[in-house]
Amino acid sequence: MSPRQNHFSPSTQEHLLHRLHAIQHDCLHISRESVQQVAQEFDLPVAQVAAVVAFHSFFHTQPRGRFDILFSNCTSCGYLSGEKNLLQLLCLQLHVTPGETRADGLVSIDETSCIGLCDQGPSLLINGLPITHLDDNKVVQLAQLIALETALPDWPSHWFDIHHTIHRQDWLLNGSPLPREIMLKALDIGRNNTLAMLLQSGLRGRGGAGFATSSKWQLCREAPGNARYVVCNADEGEPGTFKDRMLLTSYAENLFAGMALCAFVIGAKQGFVYLRAEYRYLLDSLQKTLQNCRHQGLLGNRILGHTDFDFDITIVVGAGAYICGEESALIESLEGKPGIPRIRPPFPVTHGYLGQPTVVNNVETFIAAAHIVYYGSETFRTIGTASSTGTKILSISGDCTFPGIYEYPFGISFQQILHDCGAQNVQAVQIGGPAGTLLSPAEFERTLAFDDVSSGGSLLIFGPHRDLLSVHRNFARFFAHESCGFCTPCRVGTPLIQKELDAIAEGRGSAYTIEELQQLGHLVQQQSHCGLGHTAANHVLDGLRKFPQVFSQHLLPHFTARFDLDQALASARHITQRDDPEAHLSND
Ligand SMILES: Cc1cc2nc3c(=O)[nH]c(=O)nc-3n(C[C@H](O)[C@H](O)[C@H](O)COP(=O)(O)O)c2cc1C
Ligand code: SF4
Repeated sequence: MSPRQNHFSPSTQEHLLHRLHAIQHDCLHISRESVQQVAQEFDLPVAQVAAVVAFHSFFHTQPRGRFDILFSNCTSCGYLSGEKNLLQLLCLQLHVTPGETRADGLVSIDETSCIGLCDQGPSLLINGLPITHLDDNKVVQLAQLIALETALPDWPSHWFDIHHTIHRQDWLLNGSPLPREIMLKALDIGRNNTLAMLLQSGLRGRGGAGFATSSKWQLCREAPGNARYVVCNADEGEPGTFKDRMLLTSYAENLFAGMALCAFVIGAKQGFVYLRAEYRYLLDSLQKTLQNCRHQGLLGNRILGHTDFDFDITIVVGAGAYICGEESALIESLEGKPGIPRIRPPFPVTHGYLGQPTVVNNVETFIAAAHIVYYGSETFRTIGTASSTGTKILSISGDCTFPGIYEYPFGISFQQILHDCGAQNVQAVQIGGPAGTLLSPAEFERTLAFDDVSSGGSLLIFGPHRDLLSVHRNFARFFAHESCGFCTPCRVGTPLIQKELDAIAEGRGSAYTIEELQQLGHLVQQQSHCGLGHTAANHVLDGLRKFPQVFSQHLLPHFTARFDLDQALASARHITQRDDPEAHLSND
């Protein structure tokens, strides 16, 4: 193995990201000396380890507080629930500036992108643990506990409970086949028939793009390579999505069964679950479930007595980067590198983890595959539509009476979904997160389907009083923040979109700004390197087309230059030591 692939510590089998997490936890930051030490331990270039630290928002080169707090600034759990005020209240109580660590090192308070708790009211992470249903009262109590330096295990334990809000169960959530039964069935019918069953079911990936799962597994199986890998994408970073959190909590056994089935079909011995850092609190229970599966002979060597079936799963926890949900960036991160998306093709099915054939599937896809093998493909095929078979689990949040998890057959209309979750007088709905589709009321009869409106899982509802321009600004800020910076159209384009939207909101925009936004949006969409850039302008282009008044009501009647030439010449005046009126441009 070359040094660049040595992302597991040779002595401990610990992943590079986990070693860095441990240092961040113990030392509250990762110093230059630590970077050097880790590089030595893992036999990696110092520059690579330093780049991994710099890439991830959960790693810091300056110390964080002993109580490290991250408020979600996601549109649904943050903006819609007024979380900003709670953040300010906490900062006031604890005398700390947002984004900074208090001088005595007690506390740091910052914002982060969506933490997948959009159905739980205003929420935050404190040292990685979630606290939900925040209000002024709870924030004041929280500030007191921190001021008294009360250790987290002594805080009210129910504060850390997360109650799932499942409002509609269907084919997948109602099913509870035992993983042993699923595996026995697959072993009984064999690899080819298991794959054939998936093909007959018509299952398509639930992570967003909707690629046929059987084709992916087959391509991987047929690709030349020394080893094959199974990767579960549990990065769930799309703001407004939280269904994988519920699946990882309540259906983990069947997720691991689905991964093992994939391994059986493609001939893999090693699998990974790439778990987003924001869900780190699920790690212990996932490890316990894995251990349980090993004890039952469902993972490990000679699975259920089969001499030629060895497979096990390692969980790798990410470190706060939305782009690591993109499958090639995820693989880079698994390999101990910054999560910069690869040039595709080749695709992971032929050149994935360590350059070997790799299947990457979403959490829901693996569970659906496991259930299909157990129940057969016929029932699944009869649910949904011809091109979108089965059901889809949605995370619904925003302005509705019953936010939470809903499982629907594909083909359901958005009108019906909005009715079911108690949404009234809806102004707009964002399907599939900020990267998805913005629907106006005229489109609510459209359906949830890959060939109509598809979604990786999120449905955000905006009531009649929501300021959609602020929603667009929030989305634009998200993409500008999460752009990995590798390619110019996205690195430069996403902050420019944010700036243009800010200009409009602050009354500095004109018809020219709208034109610029449109050009920029198309440029970012068409010229970017990966899916993040391709979709980062969707929301604003949709908004300009479907809700033009949201922007036009703020516009100036005439073009005004936003470049201040006089201000730009300030440094020249400074050098020449002139600041008299004659040295300034006339305002006439
Ligand atoms: C910026 C970006 C973020 C993504 N995030 C996720 C994610 O969190 N979870 C996921 O399953 N797929 C995500 N995807 C899609 C993956 O690249 C990949 O298509 C998916 O994991 C394949 O699984 P599936 O075939 O089961 O849908 C993301 C794609 C992009 C471009
Ligand atoms: S499109 Fe954005 S996220 Fe993707 S590679 Fe380019 S800069 Fe990175």
